[in-house]
Amino acid sequence: MPCLFLAMLAAEAQGQARASKQQSVQAGQQVFVQRCMQCHSVNADQGVLLGPSLWSEMSRSPHKKTTAQIRVILRDGKGKMPPWKDILAKDDVDNLLAYVRTL
Ligand code: HEC
Repeated sequence: MPCLFLAMLAAEAQGQARASKQQSVQAGQQVFVQRCMQCHSVNADQGVLLGPSLWSEMSRSPHKKTTAQIRVILRDGKGKMPPWKDILAKDDVDNLLAYVRTL
């Protein structure tokens, strides 16, 4: 039964990947609420606050900005947005990106 065994292992690994992605999205949402929400809305109704609505930015298909471009904006800041490089740990940024990609 080697095939069945491998299939079970693969299913297990997939389940774990899904669980950790879910955790990352949740952690990212918490950081977002603390640090980003005062300037960026994440739903259709709120529109533009101090910064652009990330809902309307992120929900576009194809994506307007790549994940790499967003990383640079977060690191260095842009316009009225402060740079986050001294404030956010790499994990925070990874989690934030996972979260904004769900918008
Ligand atoms: C003080 C208000 C403020 C805070 C806090 C803030 N931002 Fe911004 N953000 C802005 C402004 C203003 C812009 C537009 C900059 C420009 O294009 O000149 C922006 C731009 C962006 C963009 C680029 C959007 C695009 O497509 O052009 C992303 C992504 C982003 N912010 C994410 C975040 C995240 C994630 C956080 C939390 C860590 C955050 N911002 C916190 C004000 C803020």
